[in-house]
Amino acid sequence: MKNILLLGSGGRECTIAWKLSRSPLCGSFFIAPGNAGTSEYGMNLPFGYNDFAAIKAACIHHKIDILFVGPEEPLVNGVYDFIKNDPETRHIIVVGPSQQGAQLEGSKAFSKKFMERHNIPTAAYREFTTESVEQGISYIKKQEPPVVIKADGLAAGKGVVIAESIDAAVKAFRQMVTFNQFGDAGKKVVIEQFLDGIELSVFAFTDGDNYILLPEAKDYKRALDGDKGPNTGGMGSISPVPFATDDFMQKVIDRIVEPTVKGLKQEGIVYQGFIFFGLISVKGEPFVIEYNCRMGDPETEVVMPRLNNDLVELVLKMEERKFNEVKVEINPKAAGAVMLVSGGYPDAYEKGKVITGLNEVGGSLVFHAGTTTKDGNVVTSGGRVMAITSYGDTLQEALAKSYENAAKVKYDGVFYRKDIGYEFK
Ligand code: AMP
Ligand code: GLY
Repeated sequence: MKNILLLGSGGRECTIAWKLSRSPLCGSFFIAPGNAGTSEYGMNLPFGYNDFAAIKAACIHHKIDILFVGPEEPLVNGVYDFIKNDPETRHIIVVGPSQQGAQLEGSKAFSKKFMERHNIPTAAYREFTTESVEQGISYIKKQEPPVVIKADGLAAGKGVVIAESIDAAVKAFRQMVTFNQFGDAGKKVVIEQFLDGIELSVFAFTDGDNYILLPEAKDYKRALDGDKGPNTGGMGSISPVPFATDDFMQKVIDRIVEPTVKGLKQEGIVYQGFIFFGLISVKGEPFVIEYNCRMGDPETEVVMPRLNNDLVELVLKMEERKFNEVKVEINPKAAGAVMLVSGGYPDAYEKGKVITGLNEVGGSLVFHAGTTTKDGNVVTSGGRVMAITSYGDTLQEALAKSYENAAKVKYDGVFYRKDIGYEFK
């Protein structure tokens, strides 16, 4: 039995908590800070996932064997190195890359250069800084719109502008680089070619030498039906993705996944954890839009339910660098998740709304995101409130079940997209 501490508080972490707690190898289980849903699977600890001192104290106090890192921020801040450089905690298995490995997500310029070194297909780009603003502007003027402008660092998904005209591109670039719109994250800016295609998310779990491939997924980022409205953290997800044929996935493996895992190893970048490939298929050819150093949210809500392997066992195999011995077992059923959000999200929304109807949900999995308990009630505490995931023989059957159950959950301002999976009807 292994004692586990999971960092995070979203729908992704609730799903990982559900999955870990089903393992017979899961001993004492803690989540920091967790949400109302994670407390069904383990004990929530009241500190933030960036509080390294509290993480260390909890690891020692609860005799933690495995630290499972959900979100990117602690990884980019170096939680792996913090645990591994301390004699009191270095024996702990950390699921998640070193600070250097997390740069795949933490720095667009780093990931672009990495892809260039390893011939991994991605949009053509140039990198500019506060010292090369004029060069950046003249580069933009040579492009055909739309032009994609990206702040280098973590910007909570808001650091990307797709400018429809050269003027808008110059304006967005200036705002990032000179007016420091994204703080330090925008001191360096990547300008890249716009790729026109359809996106999907592919996940590898690497032990540093080998990798296993998890089911692919697609998330729905825009707030409103028909992919309209502002970008959000994700309004729903599906797995499998119908256009990810064997032929397409083989290209992804040969051109993207293998060169990435080999490249990390070759460069001595310490990486044991998930690699999230944000891909775009341009006429059937895969390109990398971005890397993330963790699982996706809400993709996890459909990927983990389709993974039949014991997740704790996989973590132990990761530590032994024996993923070459693992056979990934994937549930052939489709999974579809619908995200219930707070009214107004992703703009201003109210919190503290009492959630009812959860007991009436049947035949679906409920993964909490922005929820907490207050006075014996489950109440909303974030923009994305919970994901409802269902299985089905087809995606549409899975989604129909999720929608049937979504309608039973009530709180003031409840909102969700009604068309998740619409392209695949
Ligand atoms: P990123 O933060 O790099 O994932 O970008 C956020 C979103 O912007 C992506 O999910 C895409 O929808 C879009 N995007 C980013 N880069 C490109 C690109 N080169 N071409 C087209 N769309 C892009
Ligand atoms: N669903 C996209 C992400 O997790 O970044």
